[in-house]
Amino acid sequence: MSSSIHRAVCPGSFDPVTMGHVDIFRRAARQFDEVTVLVTGNPNKTSGLFTVDERLELLRESCAGIANLRVDWWSGLLVDYAKEHGISVIVKGLRSSLDYEYEVPMAQMNRNLSGVDTMFLMTDPKYGHVSSTLCKEVIRFGGDIKDVLPAVVEQAIKRKYAPDELESE
Ligand code: PNS
Repeated sequence: MSSSIHRAVCPGSFDPVTMGHVDIFRRAARQFDEVTVLVTGNPNKTSGLFTVDERLELLRESCAGIANLRVDWWSGLLVDYAKEHGISVIVKGLRSSLDYEYEVPMAQMNRNLSGVDTMFLMTDPKYGHVSSTLCKEVIRFGGDIKDVLPAVVEQAIKRKYAPDELESE
């Protein structure tokens, strides 16, 4: 597929999506005509807290206000998805040098495989400490997470860990 529409992809496991992710999607959506948020992984295999379908649903609900954003999933190589969908850029958020170290080989591999470039957006400092893993852990042990998760996501995590408590609220 080739066109003059500038498309970008934001790939990840999104187990589940956080406000840090949503902030990156919003900022990417201002720079590109179309942004695809891509959940990677096999929908028939359960690894992580949420199934691929649940992650997609939470993404759709959390990003409902971003008009030029679509949500999809893929179980193959990211660069193959990009090629099939006319996407020329991968967009990722960087919180710290730890993310940088993790991202550089992937960016270089993807460029080497296909010529697709990766662009990095610096995470808003207010989300610099936010990760899906930490949010799940804090909620699991009863901590109170504020302003870093979409409301639907916070409720969904609570339902996973303490379904009975939530029903009696
Ligand atoms: O949120 P994550 O788990 O850090 O995201 C990693 C992800 C999904 C971007 C990466 O694992 C990926 O691109 N997977 C798709 C398969 C692929 O293309 N692998 C080669 C990457 S160089």
